[in-house]
Amino acid sequence: MRPRVYLTRRLPQAAVDIVTAACETTFWDDEALPVPRETLLRAVAEVDGILTLLTDRVDVELLDAAPRLKVVANMAVGYDNVDLPALTARGVLLTNTPDVLTETTADLVWALILAASRRVVEGHRLIAAGGWSTWSPMFMVGQDVHGATLGIVGAGRIGAAVARRAVGFGMPILYHNRHPSPALEAQIRATPGAAIRYVPNLDDLLTESDVVVVMVPLTPETRGMFGAREFALMKPTSVFVNASRGPVIREAELIDALQRGRPWAAGLDVFEREPIGADHPLLTLPNVVLTPHIGSATVATRTRMAVVAATNLVAALTGQPVPNPVND
Ligand code: DGY
Repeated sequence: MRPRVYLTRRLPQAAVDIVTAACETTFWDDEALPVPRETLLRAVAEVDGILTLLTDRVDVELLDAAPRLKVVANMAVGYDNVDLPALTARGVLLTNTPDVLTETTADLVWALILAASRRVVEGHRLIAAGGWSTWSPMFMVGQDVHGATLGIVGAGRIGAAVARRAVGFGMPILYHNRHPSPALEAQIRATPGAAIRYVPNLDDLLTESDVVVVMVPLTPETRGMFGAREFALMKPTSVFVNASRGPVIREAELIDALQRGRPWAAGLDVFEREPIGADHPLLTLPNVVLTPHIGSATVATRTRMAVVAATNLVAALTGQPVPNPVND
């Protein structure tokens, strides 16, 4: 008997082909919107595997609704949408899609660094509103990116890719992790003149950096990690970028801090509650650049992520080695 699986969204054809070649497949036939919860709970009743997105909550309720479930293949590197201890307790395997999105997400981090530092979106808006009258010495002045000190909080795969790009901008790099990373340091120092330093104390990194990039996973330890106290430590000229998970930041406190001008500006790809609407208070601030959780959103990378998730799903159900197990 072929395994039965459910895909919670319409996926690129290359991924669907991998799944349908090996499994009886049903799926939520919509690309744009998540499957309604009730539909999902009914759809998983008889399945051996599900391919999920970060918009799907995989919790005890879902596990109860899916008694035959053996694998959840999440199409993301992050898996804070999944109750991992509950899966593990029931012997359900979780897989994710690391590596394939690293460089693409680092590119988006850099788009936010540059846009926030150089007021790119504010300038666009100003022109669109007919507000550009002339060139003047201090008109729309921003902060230099080249030569600025970059502080990376969470130098894992994506944080390291952000650091590699900083070498081209001549930026000294500070990074804060639980442990130093000799491999990352060696990579950066391979370029003559490039500098990188491990900073064990987060406060020191915040005080010394011109640009702070947050790339930590969302865990009980990192939830609410950045609030009024942390922002007050940053330089009044600093730029703050978060492309990890929204709840790592206490958003109301960031808004207050941005209103006070410390940090000087922020670039955010993720939010406490997604999606945010046009009435969100962040949109009233001139010194923010917002993107709608699109760190990995290129055609090539999203296709690769879907293919990797599909490959994990099929491998787990057909007795092959699983490329990206989280809890095996
Ligand atoms: C992830 O993979 O965790 C991202 O947030 C979506 O690309």
